[in-house]
Amino acid sequence: MGRVVFGVALGCAVVTCAIAAVLVGRRARSRRKWRRAVEVLREFEEGCVTSIGRLRQVVDAMAVEMHAGLASDGGSKLKMLLSFIDSLPNGNEIGTYYALDLGGTNFRVLRVQLGGRGSMILSRQVECRPIPQELMNGTSEGLFHFIAVTLKQFVEQQEDDDSEKKPDEKKVLGFTFSFPVRQMSVSSGILIKWTKGFSVEDAVGKDVARCLEEAMTKAGLNMRVAALVNDTVGTLALGHYYDEDTVAAVIFGTGTNACYVERTDAIIKCQGLLTNSGGMVVNMEWGNFWSSHLPRTSYDIALDEESPNCNDQGFEKMISGMYLGDIARRVLYRMAQESDIFGDGAYNLSMCFILRTPLMAAMHEDDSPDLREVGRILTESLQIPDVSLKARRLVVRVCDVVTRRAARLAAAGIVGILKKIGRDGSGGVASGRTKGRPRRTVVAIEGGLYANYSMFREYLNEAVAEILGEEVAQNVVIRVTEDGSGIGAALLAATYSSNR
Ligand code: GLC
Repeated sequence: MGRVVFGVALGCAVVTCAIAAVLVGRRARSRRKWRRAVEVLREFEEGCVTSIGRLRQVVDAMAVEMHAGLASDGGSKLKMLLSFIDSLPNGNEIGTYYALDLGGTNFRVLRVQLGGRGSMILSRQVECRPIPQELMNGTSEGLFHFIAVTLKQFVEQQEDDDSEKKPDEKKVLGFTFSFPVRQMSVSSGILIKWTKGFSVEDAVGKDVARCLEEAMTKAGLNMRVAALVNDTVGTLALGHYYDEDTVAAVIFGTGTNACYVERTDAIIKCQGLLTNSGGMVVNMEWGNFWSSHLPRTSYDIALDEESPNCNDQGFEKMISGMYLGDIARRVLYRMAQESDIFGDGAYNLSMCFILRTPLMAAMHEDDSPDLREVGRILTESLQIPDVSLKARRLVVRVCDVVTRRAARLAAAGIVGILKKIGRDGSGGVASGRTKGRPRRTVVAIEGGLYANYSMFREYLNEAVAEILGEEVAQNVVIRVTEDGSGIGAALLAATYSSNR
């Protein structure tokens, strides 16, 4: 009997020890895995360092590349494309103009009534339409036909409501086409390549303004393109319309890019073409900027390699709305592979672009103590339920690293432009001051990433001030314009419609 009792007791003790060993082992393994997840974050953070020293190197590299791109075609990854815009709207524009804004997943048609000095913009009507996915990857005829028909419907609807309509008069359009275009004049230009997920291959090498005009004629729309502009150029036009100290414009949206007013004598590559001795707007296509000083991680390299435009748009892939969410997703996926912090749903993180930047912004900006919004987005949008609070905190930190790096590099890009035009305070009296007083410099900014993502905005503004120093930063105004890419094109159509 005694032996039986002893045997049972021994058996229980062995089982208890085994359970305890399993539990201890499991806890140790889970701690190890958790530590691995934190290490993944640390390594990523280290790879993304944007110290002030590094930002200054990026500023210098941007200014150097700008010089090189202005000196010769192909002299830099920055294309530095001439816009032929040598006079910007100033408020005197008058009349009714149309604009078409194509550059992302939606396109917009606008009608703007300008009242001349004093009355400024009297009215504007806007309509926004998504571009069907098949047209983004189809033929140029299909894409322009769709746009022309939509524009025609919009014009007819506007004219129905207009008591002073003049149906036979040729209408004037400003066409914002936000892709790299080699302009031949203000109103014509050849598409160099697509960016941002478009691939209507037969449009490359064609004059996109003529493609649109042909489609409009076929659709029975009596309209001509008076200005073909990049979205940065439209934004600069609207910025300048409101404030004549505006010298540059930057877009932070699906893609990113900048333009600015350059002295004509600094545009060495096209001297023969330039008649005006003043300034001309240059579309930098800075999305393609590259420098060895950019902090690039294995996640950026993988994103680039898996993209349809590998080795292209390197700066854009670290900064713009199309990519930020996917950089964060890649880091989270690595964490999921090396730990179990996301449980069974982690597999979903293997899907490219499942985490879109607006969702990432919403998680980053969740200030509830239990990170409820992070939990909701992980559950509802990524199908990863029951993520612990500790792990949700890691998610927020990943978003922070991605966005902080993007915003600080963008700030360095802006200061690079200011340096190139002598407005960064380093050029002394001759370049940045008038009669001993520092000149005011306004940079117009547009795009959802800046307008809707407050952490991105704060990091960017803070870094501009940090790089410039307090005194110089006081004279640099970063001003958000609204709908510049559309209204700006209508303003430029007004400025240039009499010149053709
Ligand atoms: C992409 C385009 C560029 C555009 C920018 C912002 O970088 O190449 O032309 O300005 O996106 O929309």
